[in-house]
Amino acid sequence: QWTTASIVDDQVARIKAQIGDGHAICALSGGVDSAVAAALVQQAIGERLTCVFVDHGLLRAGERAQVERDFVAATGVKLVTVDARERFLSALAGITDPEQKRKIIGREFIRVFEQSARDLKATGDAEFLVQGTLYPDVVESGGGTGTSNIKSHHNVGGLPEDLQFKLVEPLRLLFKDEVRRVGLELGLPETIVHRQPFPGPGLGIRIIGEVTAERLETLRAADAIAREELTAAGLDSDIWQCPVVLLADVRSVGVQGDGRTYGHPVVLRPVSSEDAMTADWTRLPYDVLERISTRITNEVSEVNRVVLDVTSKPPGTIEWE
Ligand code: XMP
Repeated sequence: QWTTASIVDDQVARIKAQIGDGHAICALSGGVDSAVAAALVQQAIGERLTCVFVDHGLLRAGERAQVERDFVAATGVKLVTVDARERFLSALAGITDPEQKRKIIGREFIRVFEQSARDLKATGDAEFLVQGTLYPDVVESGGGTGTSNIKSHHNVGGLPEDLQFKLVEPLRLLFKDEVRRVGLELGLPETIVHRQPFPGPGLGIRIIGEVTAERLETLRAADAIAREELTAAGLDSDIWQCPVVLLADVRSVGVQGDGRTYGHPVVLRPVSSEDAMTADWTRLPYDVLERISTRITNEVSEVNRVVLDVTSKPPGTIEWE
């Protein structure tokens, strides 16, 4: 019978054997898989692991700090943050098609990470690439090291051949709940270990319309309020996730304070699910919905209407793009 502690010991020993006195690099996404994979490798080789965090500007409030402050404090990991916010905004300028947005974000992410990988390789600081591939990913992709499309961005499956990293995948035999237990065993913050799913393309695919700095700021503020209220109501473990979506090209008339407004709606998309393949819309308590709606329309000046998505999956997907 495997205990969580014995999984950790076993994986740390395997990683030590695989990497020897070599160096490794790992892309952190803010999510649980890459964080746990990195923490295991850090236990095994310490300073010889460098983590790279690409800030693409499409993150939610507090996510960069969670990695830069909380993850580093918990693990002592060596971290390089690449501020690529301007680069992503320029690449996304004028783009409204969902698939095009995803492609651009994925492509830019790989390019930015690739440059860091080249730099680290050139200085002899990386021959190994750490990936947070889980057992279900391995099975889905037929046992190879490739991953499903939806995750190809996050798992950085697309590094060019000529970089030739050897892969380290310490989570290959684990399911998500085991990964979370390993994360807790390694002392990672709850906010990372129990983070709900969040798409690699981030807020970029939750703005319906062109992605701009101002729209990101609006959505980030509304999203932070919804998350705060759901957490305060103790509902985090009841829902799979609750995307907040900004309908940036839609305006409606409202009245706020003394005047007429002509602002944007945001959509709340609370869903319950086992595996994201199917989902039901979550019947959130009315008082929680009311608090979220009141706060968003009071505190986020560009938003004058909050609407609720009551579509299951199928026919709707969880994300709007
Ligand atoms: P959909 O919208 O297809 O989403 O019902 C199913 C689940 O996958 C997440 N999702 C993504 N995760 N990269 C990711 O890592 C992506 O490009 C991506 N798109 C959707 C979504 O949040 C939901 O949990």
